[in-house]
Amino acid sequence: MSEEKRIVSAVIAGVGGYGGMITGDVLDHLNDYRVRVAGVVDPFYVASPQKERLDALGIPHYDTLEAFYAADQAELAILCTPIQYHEAHAACAMAHGSDVLIEKPAAATPAQAKRMMETAGRCGKTVNVGFQLSYMSAILRLKEDILSGRFGAPKDCWSLVLWPRNSAYYARSWAGRFTLNGQYVLDSIAMNACAHHLHILYFLLGSRMDSAAMPEREKVLLMRVNDIETFDTAMMEIEAGGATLHYLVSHAVPDTTAPILKLHFEKADILIQGEGTEEDAVTAVLPDGSRIHYGDLTKEYFRKVPYTLDVVRGLAAPVCTIETAMAQLLSVSAATFEAPVLDLRANLGKNSAAPRVYVKNDVRVADGLSELMKRAYDEEKMPWTLTDIYGAPQEIALAGYLSPDERPL
Ligand SMILES: NC(=O)c1ccc[n+]([C@@H]2O[C@H](COP(=O)([O-])OP(=O)(O)OC[C@H]3O[C@@H](n4cnc5c(N)ncnc54)[C@H](O)[C@@H]3O)[C@@H](O)[C@H]2O)c1
Repeated sequence: MSEEKRIVSAVIAGVGGYGGMITGDVLDHLNDYRVRVAGVVDPFYVASPQKERLDALGIPHYDTLEAFYAADQAELAILCTPIQYHEAHAACAMAHGSDVLIEKPAAATPAQAKRMMETAGRCGKTVNVGFQLSYMSAILRLKEDILSGRFGAPKDCWSLVLWPRNSAYYARSWAGRFTLNGQYVLDSIAMNACAHHLHILYFLLGSRMDSAAMPEREKVLLMRVNDIETFDTAMMEIEAGGATLHYLVSHAVPDTTAPILKLHFEKADILIQGEGTEEDAVTAVLPDGSRIHYGDLTKEYFRKVPYTLDVVRGLAAPVCTIETAMAQLLSVSAATFEAPVLDLRANLGKNSAAPRVYVKNDVRVADGLSELMKRAYDEEKMPWTLTDIYGAPQEIALAGYLSPDERPL
């Protein structure tokens, strides 16, 4: 009989929003994950969808992480709080002896993320970043094959996500904010909902299982249709790891196109469907037409939690660290700081303006944008080569790039 894994204690911060889903999964699997929830932290605990279950289990709740650590301790802190708190919450958890599983993005800026790495080194703790795709078996098996050289060198990679988002999404206090209360947030489509679909390209092109290719330069075209400070549409072409990455994402579309990605290698095309199941989620198509199916992407959505518990036990190696997550953070924060945002809000309801902006099912839509982005993906041409209606992209050099908060005065 195999020996049972030891029970690990955990604290969860942010138990509304996405953290409510994580908490629900943890409570569903207390026995098989071998985890004990020592406490949860949320100043709005009463609004958590898990409140009744947490109360029934007698799990104590606190308003702040400091209050939790004044009363108890935990081997792992699962931090699902808004982006602007990531650095401070991770630092607090590590200073009190916890390893960390932090939600993506690692932080708001690379400078913050670098300080988190220093803190982790000083405290002897690990920070695992919650980009869930990087923890899924199908993606890890694919990465092993890429690293073995089976497919040759990467060439062009494409990633497309069209996800409508309504006014309730943007009603959250930090949604689409550049700063809030004097702190960087840098929340945007590329930092939040669709950050995964850029990170995964870097991750798959990394030279080790836990590393990511680093971006060298990028061309960026950003747009804003909603009442936000950042952007809800991004078109990015990035040089990284010897390949060119093309990233097309928008919330200003009438209908959903679930994440689709294609990675062209010398000796294979890799096709990924973010919501695909067994047969079509992660597939390598070889030159003779034969296919390798790597498996499902829907069933291991929360594998990052038991995986990180094994990291805490010393039974698994971290797979998505701050260093791994830095490529997404660097390219998106540099775009947010440096690129102008084409502001289409004035086009709302005006038939004479191009593109026309209208509202469908409470979602602001830029007319024709969805079709353009799908055509760009299918024809493998960036949108700015197909039309000049949105202007030209901004070029940004990323080697040695310093964000404003780390530039010498
Ligand atoms: N991995 C994913 O697929 C995924 C999906 C959605 C969100 N996220 C990430 O999760 C994080 C939270 O996003 P969200 O959409 O759930 O935000 P949200 O605003 O909906 O929820 C945040 C939660 O944190 C709580 N909170 C706020 N300040 C706090 C504090 N100081 N201490 C403890 N709790 C606090 C809030 O009360 C709320 O319950 C972000 O980093 C986001 O990018 C990840």
